[in-house]
Amino acid sequence: MNNNGIGDGNGVGNGVSAAVVCRGLCKSYRIGGARQEVLSDLDLTVSAGEAAVVAGVSGSGKTTLLHLLGGLDIPDAGTVAVGGEDLFALSGAALAKLRNRRLGFVFQFHLLLPEFTAAENVAMPLLIRGENRSRALTVARDLLSQTGMAQFAEKRPAALSGGERQRVAVARALCGGAECVLADEPTGNLDRRNADAVFDLLLSQCARRKMALIAATHDSHLLARAGRFWELREGKLWRKENGK
Ligand SMILES: Nc1ncnc2c1ncn2[C@@H]1O[C@H](COP(=O)(O)OP(=O)(O)OP(=O)(O)O)[C@@H](O)[C@H]1O
Ligand SMILES: [Mg+2]
Repeated sequence: MNNNGIGDGNGVGNGVSAAVVCRGLCKSYRIGGARQEVLSDLDLTVSAGEAAVVAGVSGSGKTTLLHLLGGLDIPDAGTVAVGGEDLFALSGAALAKLRNRRLGFVFQFHLLLPEFTAAENVAMPLLIRGENRSRALTVARDLLSQTGMAQFAEKRPAALSGGERQRVAVARALCGGAECVLADEPTGNLDRRNADAVFDLLLSQCARRKMALIAATHDSHLLARAGRFWELREGKLWRKENGK
């Protein structure tokens, strides 16, 4: 059964705080004279410690949704609240601070900083806040070892494979102690074993740190393991159970 809708019973109203609440999200792109509606009155609630896995065919709007949830783009209509703060009501400086402290991103195309080592890239959310450099790098190296990347800590992104860069990006998203991690195809460049390991790391950190995780993936193996997930279709999220 597909349910178009809001949350999944673990969210607000159940004594669990909602980390991310989005309501009535609409986004369209104008190409020439035509308007393409990508998100249409979309609602989503994700609680602290909950993982929302989002599937959908290429072009269905997964990246568009994650960018809006992270305040990286502006919707035509609707609201996004992270930890109760309405992203689109914040000033640019306040939004940048919220992103640094409350959100972690794994982008579809990792976006590591080329002039910094893997460990420095991972530590970046802490370094930006002005935290002690050697402490930040210790946290970063610990996360790199959890993603199987300990031996690459001092390498720059250009000297890493696509999958290795992706694991650095996952470690970076976790490093700042985010309340919410937005992950766009976080395992897209990885082989089966590393894809499973990175996905498991995201899920276990989500549960352990009481983070909300919103992860878009095409990977049917991961969707099967997630059990329940959302399908993005016709601009809305539809609840899916495995095999249905
Ligand atoms: N800046 C933009 N200008 C115009 N159209 C855009 C823009 N960004 C995205 N689109 C269009 O919006 C639709 C959704 O794109 P989006 O990148 O969100 O899809 P996706 O589900 O992430 O796809 P994929 O699985 O291939 O990454 C696509 O048809 C895309 O061409
Ligand atoms: Mg995408």
